Amino acid sequence: MGKDNVEIIAVEATQANMMDYEEASRSFDWADVEKRFSWHETGNINLAYEAIDRHAASERRDHIALHYSDPVRSESYTFEQLRQQSNRAANMLRKLGIGKGDRVFIFMPRTPELYFTLLGIIKIGAIAGPLFEAFMETAVKDRLADSGAVAIITTPKLVERVPSHELPELQHVILVGDEQDITAPYIDFAKEMQQASTEAEIEWVDLDDGLILHYTSGSTGKPKGVYHVHRAMIQQEYTGRIVLDLQENDIYWCTADPGWVTGTSYGIFAPWLNGVTNVVRGGRFSPQDWYKTIGRYQVTVWYSAPTAFRMLMGAGDEVVQQYDLSSLRHVLSVGEPLNPEVIRWGYRVYGQRIHDTWWMTETGAQLICNYPRMDIRPGSMGRPIPGVEAAIIDDAGNVLPPLRMGNLAIKTPWPSMMYKIWNNPAKFEEYTRIPGWYISGDSAYMDEDGYFWFQGRIDDVINTSGERVGPFEVESKLVEHPAVAEAGVIGKPDPVRGEVIKAFISLREGYTATEELKQEITRFVKEGLSAHAAPREIEFKDKLPKTRSGKIMRRVLKAWELELPTGDLSTIED
Ligand code: PRX
Repeated sequence: MGKDNVEIIAVEATQANMMDYEEASRSFDWADVEKRFSWHETGNINLAYEAIDRHAASERRDHIALHYSDPVRSESYTFEQLRQQSNRAANMLRKLGIGKGDRVFIFMPRTPELYFTLLGIIKIGAIAGPLFEAFMETAVKDRLADSGAVAIITTPKLVERVPSHELPELQHVILVGDEQDITAPYIDFAKEMQQASTEAEIEWVDLDDGLILHYTSGSTGKPKGVYHVHRAMIQQEYTGRIVLDLQENDIYWCTADPGWVTGTSYGIFAPWLNGVTNVVRGGRFSPQDWYKTIGRYQVTVWYSAPTAFRMLMGAGDEVVQQYDLSSLRHVLSVGEPLNPEVIRWGYRVYGQRIHDTWWMTETGAQLICNYPRMDIRPGSMGRPIPGVEAAIIDDAGNVLPPLRMGNLAIKTPWPSMMYKIWNNPAKFEEYTRIPGWYISGDSAYMDEDGYFWFQGRIDDVINTSGERVGPFEVESKLVEHPAVAEAGVIGKPDPVRGEVIKAFISLREGYTATEELKQEITRFVKEGLSAHAAPREIEFKDKLPKTRSGKIMRRVLKAWELELPTGDLSTIED
């Protein structure tokens, strides 16, 4: 695979591949996927059993399930060891009276304990709520309060951001850390784990019983709890096979944190449902450490995100040459548009085609993908996987012909589709307002060969470094600052991060627009919400454009920013 034929191989579809795809789509039946699970025979359903215990009871018992490393720790666990550790975690939680349907949150860096705990929560039929460790107090509080969480597993350092006194339903705070840092009423994770038995009864559930709550942002309101059920495992196992192409001896590395859906659906469930060795790397991003990780474990399948690939590209080709990446055989990306330039670069320096995949927190698993035997058209997200039907529809629900831009919609249901939005049926209905379809909120078009091309978000949701940020959440934090009268937040195009957050702010009487004030406001959001939600850019304005009902018109702010026409202003205040 030389440099010269990149464009041809990567871009052009061959007749043979197209036939392969059509055939797979025609003969597909989800019922065939269900036959691969032990519950198909036994009737006993639990995702954690299928991901771990089933393999521990097979000849894969001593196969490595988890290779973990960070700058100080380096550990590996077999499926049998994970079975025992997750049983301990299950017993620890049961002892506290936690059980089926309870919401239990995890708020800690990526360490093996996070994985034991998450599996333990699932084993007792409770619902896991993973939180990204960078969240600050407001972000943590909103999510725990909305879900009515009864317990949280965190660390002595992060517990400062858990305002227990404001969370009446939160009964147990378990800390993972050094014994001397843990005093009552906090519970010492290590001590409890050590005392707990390695054997535990698994709570058998229904396919539609709760599994995980991932909070994610929309353009209005606080983050919403996307509720997934055990049924999702059907599609996670399936896409692990046909999209990630996982095979028995693969060493798989997904770079996402379990605080985001990619880090659970594909950082935990898909690989382990397929019985495959999963690599987890703690600590921060660094091109050198990432490449070292691939060489060290001989990673074969690698799933990451456009921002990471752009940063790796920025680090240069020479860095790549210093590491052994020869084990790689399949590379994938998700989270934001994957630039054609990055695909070409990846093909040249890694000798690998980077396969874009499209899906969302709400969809629970991949839906539109470039899968292994498909030719890549750089810039396209790929085609719906067999078993999934996608279309471009207009606002009235009419299916549009190829090349017309509109709402990217998926025919409902599919196994991993969210079951509901926690506490918010009205929000759920927004996605399903057109009967028979799930409306993604993305706009796209389909070409004549059925490849889908992402065009943008229909709402104001910002995608910065692949992380979804709701402008409302940031605006709400900004107006808490004493100097801020009003704030409007938009995503501004950025070559590395996709988008960065830009805030337009009008100041209260008596405050002067200074560079220091900008910095202080940024710090305020960083410390109150999270670093990734803090504006990278602030512009002070005397007045912000508003509708007559007082809503800030982000569309106008965006037009200002991009120097575009502002469009219909008939609803503007004055
Ligand atoms: O706008 C799309 C973008 O990310 C959104 C979903 O974000 P989130 O729920 O955080 O999930 C990300 C990982 C599953 C989508 O509505 N997005 C995701 N994948 C792609 C994408 N945009 C373009 N191309 C993609 N491959």
